Amino acid sequence: MNRRLFISRIAAVVAGSYTAYTFAQMGEHSMGGSMMGMDHSGMMSGNMGNMSMMQSGDLLATSALPQARPLPTLQTLRNLSSEAGVFEAELEAKPATISLTNNLKTDFWTYNGMIPGPQIEVYEGDRVRIRFKNSLPEPTTVHWHGLPVPASQDGNPQDEVPSGGERIYEFTLPDNCAGTYWFHPHGHNSVAQQVYKGLAGTFIVRSKRDPLAHLPEQHWLISDLRLDSEGAIPDNTMMDWMNGREGQFALINGAFRPEITLNKPTRIRVWNACSARYLNLHIPGCDVQLVGTDGGLVAKPTAVRALLLSPGERAELVVSPIESTETVVVALAYDRSKMGPARAEEDYLLAKLVLTGAAKAELPQQLNQIVDPGKATATKTLEYTEVMKKGCGMQFLINGKRHDLNRIDLTSRVGEVEEWTIFNNSHMDHNFHIHGNQFLEVDYQINGRKRTPTYKGWKDTINLRPYETARIKIVQKMKGLRMYHCHILEHETLGMMGQVDVVER
Ligand code: C2O
Ligand code: CU
Ligand code: CU
Repeated sequence: MNRRLFISRIAAVVAGSYTAYTFAQMGEHSMGGSMMGMDHSGMMSGNMGNMSMMQSGDLLATSALPQARPLPTLQTLRNLSSEAGVFEAELEAKPATISLTNNLKTDFWTYNGMIPGPQIEVYEGDRVRIRFKNSLPEPTTVHWHGLPVPASQDGNPQDEVPSGGERIYEFTLPDNCAGTYWFHPHGHNSVAQQVYKGLAGTFIVRSKRDPLAHLPEQHWLISDLRLDSEGAIPDNTMMDWMNGREGQFALINGAFRPEITLNKPTRIRVWNACSARYLNLHIPGCDVQLVGTDGGLVAKPTAVRALLLSPGERAELVVSPIESTETVVVALAYDRSKMGPARAEEDYLLAKLVLTGAAKAELPQQLNQIVDPGKATATKTLEYTEVMKKGCGMQFLINGKRHDLNRIDLTSRVGEVEEWTIFNNSHMDHNFHIHGNQFLEVDYQINGRKRTPTYKGWKDTINLRPYETARIKIVQKMKGLRMYHCHILEHETLGMMGQVDVVER
């Protein structure tokens, strides 16, 4: 889709035309979109016959999974400790066969046998102790995405737990880290495969002084799933490795196109846990206020009409129904400039939405104090590139290099204010994520045109449009080795990742 068409389409949809859709119409409408993956990989194998493994075979029709069932609640991981301020639990990565519908069984890789994984809920200041067992047939780690935990506890690819092995992840959460996080594997060269087989779970850190504690909460963990006609999870195709994998199913809390009910202003935490799917989230019929980003509450509530979440990002929204109607939650078409002869992107139906009542939330004007860390005294520069190498296919590089477990790319000092400039010198969107701490966005620039975010909040993952440059401000607070990478998991797994060693001053 060309850019002008794309923008006018967004404008039309944002103007409210979705409130006119019924769920059934929309479901049919987006069938075409969801079948696209299949046509797409088939078509690719025709055009690029010299590359094998293009096809993932026949895919399951989206109509095969039940839809419009009530949104499942994420199951909380049980705290085994009775001591105040201590969270102790057991987490096991293991294969599990789960039936998503009659006559269909899928072999997933799970945390504790569940899809999605269990939700960890703790308070700032808590001591967290997780006894982890790896019952997968290969090594893995558990990475606490976005959380300020010591590098030795953060599931780095250097610290794999072997198949059959166990370890304890242990950390104390500092003050002022309340927010919406998640956990997923971070082994060496295996993240994409382990996540698309099902490994992901949510992690909420609460504050005892939460200005929004009075609101009811919903949690939307959005993940991606591809199933073949037998209900199995197929391997990545070559196109998946290039563009990032998008299955035909986007699930919320493990359910396909569930029914979500909102009858009063509600705080909704949203996770984009998809391998590569960009979610340009639109919730019609509602007043939608952005109240939190990756690392906690923003300074002030900000009205949003469509919110782009790239893979790995989270947001907290206060959503108030402003009419009584039935509508749909959609991911609006977003063109991230995939490679190859990709079809035009289409809107993707995420859920049926039933709205009753019309009461707008009264929100405090000040939600959080986001204190700028001050003038940067160190700088870092990253450049993303894509290079076609004969015999090895496409390579995704940072500063001309692929990830190497044994190479330190950058050094930072504990407590030093740094400005990072990240240049996406490629024709496709990539995002940027760094471990160990949250950062502030300074600005973005494409061809001399600058933009700044409309909110002030802590981030650990940001998107970069093709040829866009982002500047961020970050202060690492703990020493140790940290990863930074594109969170399109196929790119990360192919080596679009670097390592920064944080040393004492
Ligand atoms: Cu979600 Cu390296 O992380
Ligand atoms: Cu991370
Ligand atoms: Cu990427």
